[in-house]
Amino acid sequence: MEAINASIGFDQRMAQQDITGSRAHAAMLAATGIIAKQDAQAIDQGLTQVLAEIEGGTFAFSAALEDIHMNVEARLSDIIGTPAGRLHTARSRNDQVALDFRMWVRDQCDAAIAGLDALMRAFLAQAEAGADWVMPGFTHLQTAQPVTWGHHMMAYVEMLARDKGRFQDARARMNECPLGAAALAGTSFPIDRQMTAQTLGFDRPTANSLDTVSDRDFALEFLSAASICAMHLSRFAEELVIWSSAQFRFVRMSDQFSTGSSIMPQKRNPDAAELLRAKLGRILGATVALFTVMKGLPLAYSKDMQEDKEQVFDAADTLMLGLAAMEGMVRDLTANRATLETAAASGFSTATDLADWLVRELNLPFREAHHVTGSLVKLAEDKGCDLPDLTLEDMQNVHGQITQAVYSVLGVQNSVNSRTSYGGTAPANVRDQIARWKGVLE
Ligand code: ARG
Repeated sequence: MEAINASIGFDQRMAQQDITGSRAHAAMLAATGIIAKQDAQAIDQGLTQVLAEIEGGTFAFSAALEDIHMNVEARLSDIIGTPAGRLHTARSRNDQVALDFRMWVRDQCDAAIAGLDALMRAFLAQAEAGADWVMPGFTHLQTAQPVTWGHHMMAYVEMLARDKGRFQDARARMNECPLGAAALAGTSFPIDRQMTAQTLGFDRPTANSLDTVSDRDFALEFLSAASICAMHLSRFAEELVIWSSAQFRFVRMSDQFSTGSSIMPQKRNPDAAELLRAKLGRILGATVALFTVMKGLPLAYSKDMQEDKEQVFDAADTLMLGLAAMEGMVRDLTANRATLETAAASGFSTATDLADWLVRELNLPFREAHHVTGSLVKLAEDKGCDLPDLTLEDMQNVHGQITQAVYSVLGVQNSVNSRTSYGGTAPANVRDQIARWKGVLE
C-alpha cells in the first residue's frame, strides 16, 4: 500500500509552496480568532525551520507519511509540539494540494514566459543581422519563392509570442486561490479567504469548493501551452538538422551545440537540435497522460489526481531545458549568406515574379501568365539553365510581347524587395517588424 500510495518521492518538489501556503493559512486563522496568536507564531517559526531543513538537505522524508503535506506537519509537530495540531483547522489536504500545485504551476508559467522572452530576443538578433539576406522559401520542402533570412527568423518570433500569450492567459485564469475549499464543501469556521488569496498573490479566492478540489484545468492548460510551444521548438530543431547538413550548408552550428562522431572524423552532429526535436514527445505525452487521468472522474477529489504531478514536473523541466538550449543554439548560429543566396536562385524560384510581370506589364490574365511561365520553365529545364539565362529570343518564342524589361524581375534580391505587401518578406517589412517586436519586448 505504501509503495502505491505515497507521493512524497515526487511531491517534495512542492515543499516551498506547501510551507508558504501553511504560513498564510496560520496567519489567517490567528487574524480571524480561530486559533491563538501565540500558536500561530509558534507554527510560523516552526515552519521556517522545516523549510530550512528541507532546503539544507537535512530533512528526512518518510514514505510512511505519504506526501509532502503530512511530512511537513509531522516535522512541525516534532519541533513545536501541540500547536502544530492546530494548523490543519479549516483545511484539508484536498485544498492544500490544489493550492501547492497551482502555485508551482504558476511559477512555471512565469519561467516559461521569461524563457520565451529570451528566445525571442535571440531570434530577433538573427533577424536583425540578416534582415535582407536572401534564402529559398519552401513549400513541401521544395523551393517555392525567395524569402529573407530575417523574415524566416521573425516567423519564429510570431510563433513564440503566441506561446507566451498562452502561458499568460493560463496564468491569469489559474490565479484564483483554492485555500479554504477544505475537503470539498467549505468549512463552518469563519475563515477569511480574501486574506489568504491576497497574501499568496492570487486575484481572488475560487468560488465553488467542489470545483476547486477537483479542478486540474490549470495543469492541463499549462501542458497544452507547453505542448504547442515544444512543437514550435521541434520544428526549428528540424530546420537546423536539415540546414546544417552537408547537402544544405545553410547554417553552421557552434561547436558548443554540435558533437563529433567516435568513428567518422569529419562529422559535426546536431545532437542538441535532434534531442530538442524529440523532447516534444515527452511533453505531449504528459499532456495526453493527464487528460486521460482527468477524463471521467466524478466530482470532487479522487486519488487519481495524485498522478498529475510527475507528468507536469517532467514536462516543465523538459520545456525549460528546451527553451534554454534553443536560445543558446540560436544565439550561436552562423548563417552562410552566400550559400543561402545561391540556393535561393536555384529551382526557378522567381517563376512567380515572371508570371506577375506578365500580368502587370502585358495585362495577361493570371491563369494565362501561369501557363506561359510554365512553358518558359520547361524550356529552361530542357536547356539546363535558370530563367535569367534564357535569351530574349527564347522568351519571345513563347510569348511575342515579352521585352528586355522582364529580366529585372528575375533576380532574387529584386524578388524579395518587391514583396512589400503587409506581412510580406521584403527587407523593409522585416525591419519594421523587428522594430515593433523590440518595442514589445522592452
Ligand atoms: N498526495 C495527495 C495528492 O497528491 C494529496 C491529497 C490527498 N488527499 C486525500 N484525501 N487523500 O493528490
